[in-house]
Amino acid sequence: MSTQGRAVPGDTGPGMRVRRATEGDLDAVAGIERRARRGTDPDQLVLALTDAERVVLVATVDDVVVGWGKTHWWSYADGPAPVGHYLGGVTVDPGSRRGGVGSALTRARMDWVAERADVVCCVVNATNVASLTLHEGLGFREVSRAASFHTIRFTGGSGVLLRAELGAGRA
Ligand SMILES: CC(C)(COP(=O)(O)OP(=O)(O)OC[C@H]1O[C@@H](n2cnc3c(N)ncnc32)[C@H](O)[C@@H]1OP(=O)(O)O)[C@@H](O)C(=O)NCCC(=O)NCCS
Repeated sequence: MSTQGRAVPGDTGPGMRVRRATEGDLDAVAGIERRARRGTDPDQLVLALTDAERVVLVATVDDVVVGWGKTHWWSYADGPAPVGHYLGGVTVDPGSRRGGVGSALTRARMDWVAERADVVCCVVNATNVASLTLHEGLGFREVSRAASFHTIRFTGGSGVLLRAELGAGRA
């Protein structure tokens, strides 16, 4: 499945769709965060929905929201972490994992950034094997490790800054 060249992707596989999130998805997103024992600030998410520098996407299977992801724009560098677009977190409902949902949400956010920049970054906790493997499989490569990047401080003390080339250099 490729969503290259489309700002908002559509069908991604049997029954699965990735689309822009709306306020009507916020309860579903909160439920996923709760079941995944994570947490996102609902007020920040509402702001992100209407911010032209960010995108918030949901993945649905048969119209049920099974995962979500967003991007973030950092307007200043922090050591090796450059100014630019970052993939800012992705969560898949625990009962819907290993079915390609996280990859679809990541590819779709990479497509969105590719229409605006040649490079995208993300930061991942060094212990998060699932996320590191997913991102490396989609062309991300490690740039640096640190206890924090920008305002993100990593539980356990180590995070990985990853970078992917978009456009002509895309893996
Ligand atoms: C990370 C996460 C988003 C992956 O979502 P997913 O829908 O299960 O991912 P996919 O099915 O697209 O998996 C793509 C590939 O990533 C890798 N991967 C995914 N989960 C993995 C795991 N638990 N262990 C090792 N590799 C894993 C595999 O290479 C997988 O391909 P495969 O299934 O063909 O082997 C999901 O586990 C999640 O929501 N985790 C909690 C939140 C989180 O940590 N988010 C990332 C923050 S940076």
